[in-house]
Amino acid sequence: MRPDPLQFLSDELENLKQQGLYRRLRVLEGEQTAHATFDHRSVVNLSSNNYLGLTTHPKLRQAALDAVQKYGAGSGSVRTIAGTMELHMELERRLATFKKVEAVVVFQSGFTANARTVSAILGKEDAIISDELNHASIIDGARLSRATIKVFPHKDVEAARKIMSELPAGQRKLLITDGVFSMDGDLGVLPDLCKAAEEFGAIMMVDDAHASGVFGANGRGTVDHFDCHGRVDIQVGTLSKAMGALGGYVAGTKNFIEFLYHRARPFLFSTSHPPAVAAACIAALDVLETEPQWMEKLWENTRFFKGGLQALGFNTGRSESPITPVIVGEAPKAMEMSDRLFQQGVFAQGIGFPTVARGQARLRTIVTSTHTREDLQYALDVFGKVGKELGVV
Ligand SMILES: Cc1ncc(COP(=O)(O)O)c(C=O)c1O
Repeated sequence: MRPDPLQFLSDELENLKQQGLYRRLRVLEGEQTAHATFDHRSVVNLSSNNYLGLTTHPKLRQAALDAVQKYGAGSGSVRTIAGTMELHMELERRLATFKKVEAVVVFQSGFTANARTVSAILGKEDAIISDELNHASIIDGARLSRATIKVFPHKDVEAARKIMSELPAGQRKLLITDGVFSMDGDLGVLPDLCKAAEEFGAIMMVDDAHASGVFGANGRGTVDHFDCHGRVDIQVGTLSKAMGALGGYVAGTKNFIEFLYHRARPFLFSTSHPPAVAAACIAALDVLETEPQWMEKLWENTRFFKGGLQALGFNTGRSESPITPVIVGEAPKAMEMSDRLFQQGVFAQGIGFPTVARGQARLRTIVTSTHTREDLQYALDVFGKVGKELGVV
């Protein structure tokens, strides 16, 4: 028999198991809701990005169903050939108005939007100045661009300024931050970074994946939250988290978006969203614009749950958003804690290296607007009990 040329991967997996970093996928049976069934167990679900509960909102469901009836199941082509449907154009127009920018292009995911925007606009002569905790999609985009990558310590604007001051004045520069950092839940320092970008003539870019639908008026994101309109050249948002469906978008000037229509590779080489997805995203915008109660409830729940974890003595890091990490240190302990919580009806995913730094393993919790006070109190009680059992608090 031929020796397996992929044997080395089994060794890698064994390694992961030994480090406590091996993960089995939890399988969701039914809908993505605040109370859900994973692996045959009914749990309070603190692991989704479904901030506003829109995955199951009646308006999104109905819009998706209607679109399937009217337009079918798929788009059948990439955007630049035959795959641009009326619904895609409508979604982009609606998003541009919502974000108060000239134009928007929608991608298949937030990941693609980040990775392929950065790599479309920059080349090897250019420089990228990036926060050390920026999302993997930004890191990949930076690598794909072949530009010089300069990483500054988390939120250290002075360090970013110093890097830019040492680069040649004529070199094209992109200064980039997450709006909300996905593993810590803290906010990018937008006003100060905008100022630094202005000072050094850099392009300013913000990845607002976790801020879309969560921060700013009606969920317009951190640019709105910090009143930085007109100072951020490139805004990336996602349609996959608070918006309840799937996709990513890039917002900016008309020329910039037209350039991406011509040069962003997923736009040219990967099939566009099925009509049901585009229609659900349009319905999500309707909800954001007319039903502020979901955001209000999200923040009320966030205050209650974050305060409860802190009162129990957990280390919740520097979170300023509905993402509240419970930092426990080593990965095996985080995974053990996550498993024990799950056995007792609370799903909070354990996260270790390489998603977060070694020694910073954590359980990442996200509340949604659809959690009830009872759900959250129950989760706090179980957190307190398991945290004590494991010596975390
Ligand atoms: C900060 C950040 N940016 C981008 C993305 C990618 O978004 P999407 O899930 O739409 O691909 C994520 C998702 O995990 C994220 O956390």
